Order: sequence, then structure tokens, then C-alpha cells
Amino acid sequence: MKRFLIVLLLLILLAGLAAPFVIKSFKDYSGTEESTTDVITEPSIETTDNAADESTTAETTTEEPTTFTPNPSIPEGNSGTILGTSSKGYDIIEVNGLTYINGILVVNKTYSVPAGYNPGALTAECKNAFREMQSAADELGLSLTVCSGFRSYETQKNLYNKYCEKDGKALADTYSARPGHSEHQTGLAIDVNSVKQSFKDTPEGKWLKENCHKYGFILRYPEDKQSVTGYSYEPWHIRYVGKTAAKDIYESGLCLEEYLGIKSVYANSYQEETTAKPVVPETTTKAPVQETTTKAAIQETTTKAPVQETTTAVQETTTVVQETTTVVQETTTVVETTAATEETTAADTPE
Ligand code: DAL
Ligand code: ZN
Repeated sequence: MKRFLIVLLLLILLAGLAAPFVIKSFKDYSGTEESTTDVITEPSIETTDNAADESTTAETTTEEPTTFTPNPSIPEGNSGTILGTSSKGYDIIEVNGLTYINGILVVNKTYSVPAGYNPGALTAECKNAFREMQSAADELGLSLTVCSGFRSYETQKNLYNKYCEKDGKALADTYSARPGHSEHQTGLAIDVNSVKQSFKDTPEGKWLKENCHKYGFILRYPEDKQSVTGYSYEPWHIRYVGKTAAKDIYESGLCLEEYLGIKSVYANSYQEETTAKPVVPETTTKAPVQETTTKAAIQETTTKAPVQETTTAVQETTTVVQETTTVVQETTTVVETTAATEETTAADTPE
């Protein structure tokens, strides 16, 4: 009997010691215990904090490219034709014969504009941006003027031919664009003050290089980028791309071709090219390019020859572009007084 009582006491003692563990196990399983909630909540808060930190970090260090608003704007209802993809992963989109890459209208040796594309002057946005920059420079005692602004296809043709006669085609191609390949035809490019190399050493030239991006311009043909842009250094030639794009491109230290992942190379000889691209009659009225338009895709990552702008679609849709382009009235001041109209460059200087 005494032994039985001792065993009983031991059992009661053991049961007392084991009870909290048994109860806790049950409560954990049922998920109703407050302390369980605490256990779940704490890491959960940490996770949330970490997630917030990570997303903040991701925002500041992301390599996702900025998407820019097309300029000039793409006519509504016309999403264009995707010609291919740049080596930086951007779609190369053709709309009415114009090539847009990440919203930037691209004109270089690979990508041309139709001969009939004629905004008639610098676009309003480009002109206003130049005015803003001009005022800022003026306050610093610097004088910026438009040496050459808009140039039509015909004007560029005359200039290029003149340079070919003077220097030969090979040399002319290093500093003058063939007709249809000049940014000046878009009304978005300006030669500032002087088209002489000495401009880069002037206070205005130095200031322009480091500050034009604040007003939406990029120095389009930088020093040491001739092999990429296809043109020798032009410290005077600025191109309007808008403030966001200009800042991004400036900070990247890349020229436009590098930034977008494209090339600037002529595919044909000048004769072949001009034969293939007749001037489009101003009266042509045809439907805009449809997405279904068949065209060889451009892969900037391959060695495939660049697309030539010789399709019927390009010619047929020119009028649409002209109708939607904002043309600056030549009655405006400031820029006009600095010779904003075409062909104002000194006769003997390359442009
Ligand atoms: N000088 C530049 C390349 C042009 O002719 O447009
Ligand atoms: Zn120029």
C-alpha cells in the first residue's frame, strides 16, 4: 500500500510537470493563442519592413529604362509598325515613315525621314526650350544664337551636294548628312552660334556642353563618338529630346546611338538611296501605316543590313505626318531674331 501511494504521488507529480507542454501544443495547433499571434506578427512586420526597404532600394537602383513620351507625338490611332528591337531592348517603331525608339524620333545614317516631311520651322517645343536656355545663358553673360535651325530636304540636298563637290563624298559623309538623314529636317536640331571647331573652347561652347540637357537638348555628336554616330565632333549641334530624356542621356555619358542601342550606317550609296526615295508629292493622301504592314524586322543585335525607307507605306503616309506636326509661326520673337530659319550657316563651314 505504501508503495502504491509513492507511485501515485510520482504519477501526479509527472502529470503536473507535463501539463503546460500538452496545453501549449494544443493551443499552437488551434492557432487561437495570443502568444502565437505575437510570434507570427513580429516576423511578419519585419518582412513588411524588409519588403519596403527592398522596394525602395529597387526603385533607386533599378536598371529599368525610362520610357519617354513620343516627340513629336504619334498621331492617335496609329501605333505604327515594329521594325525590330534595338540591342538595348527597345522596340524600333515606324510611324508614317518616321522612326521612334523609346519615344525618341531617331534620324541618323540608318534611319531617315521621308523627303516630304517638312515641319517648316523649328517645332514649338524646341523653339521654346531654346528660348529658355538662351535666357539662362544670357543671365550669365553668355550669348546663344541659332546659327542653323530647320532645313528642308531640298536645302540639305543642296548643302550635301556642295560639300561633296568641295571635299568628296567620303569626307562629306563625316560631317554632313545626306538628304533625308539630317536631324535639321525634323525641326528638332539647332546649330548654336558657329559651326567651327573653335566653338568648343568658347565660354558658350563649354556651357552648352554641360548645361543644354537642363533645357531638353543633347549634344548629338560628341567628341570621340564618331565611330558610333557616324559624324565627327560637332560642339554646336544640339538636338531637342525633352528634359527627362536629355538628363538621362547626359548622365549616362552615352551618345544617342549607344543609349538606344542602335547603329548609324548608310546601307546604300547616295545615288541608290536618292533614286529609291523620290520626293513625296504634298497632295498625297493615303491611310497611315498599319501594324499589319509587312516589313523586314530590324535586329540591331545582328549584322543584318538596316531597313531602307523605300516602302510604299512611307511614301503614302507622308501627308498624315505633315498634318499632325506643330509648325512654329515665324512671327515669334527671340529665336527669330537670331536667324532660326533654314540655311543660315556660313557658306564655307561644315554643318
Ligand atoms: N551636320 C549634321 C550631321 C547634319 O548635316 O545634319
Ligand atoms: Zn547641325
